[in-house]
Amino acid sequence: MILGRISELNAQTGIAPQLLAIIKQALALHPETLSAGRHEIDGDDIFMNVMTFDTTEPQSKRYEQHREYLDVQVLLRGEERIDFGPKGAAVEPDIYHEDDDYLLCDVVSPCQTLHMQPEMFAIFLPGEPHKPGCISETSQTISKVVIKVHYRCL
Ligand code: CU
Repeated sequence: MILGRISELNAQTGIAPQLLAIIKQALALHPETLSAGRHEIDGDDIFMNVMTFDTTEPQSKRYEQHREYLDVQVLLRGEERIDFGPKGAAVEPDIYHEDDDYLLCDVVSPCQTLHMQPEMFAIFLPGEPHKPGCISETSQTISKVVIKVHYRCL
């Protein structure tokens, strides 16, 4: 997991140049102005999902993790809690859904928690379980974009 702020993207070091270029390319499309849903950047290799929804209690949600894509989760509006764990932390995960590249689980050990503010982003690498969309302080309507990047692009 890599945590950052959009405003620091030009100064930030440690993000692979290819990935940094993809993030900048996606943000240059002004996702905050796009309709909800999928927007392709490079076919199935790079695309982004724009969404608006209400955060909910973490107990009511499940962790997801991916094998082929990494997620760049960018919060555009509102506050959001994201629980996550390192690779291998998913306890008794469900079967892998190959068509949509995800598997779900209820328990992650050890579990970590992020409190996201607008214009922050969190990058989850393949194999890192994450549970976005949780209530941080109060339930809020949040807007976010998730940039999906296939590992073959990196
Ligand atoms: Cu994800």
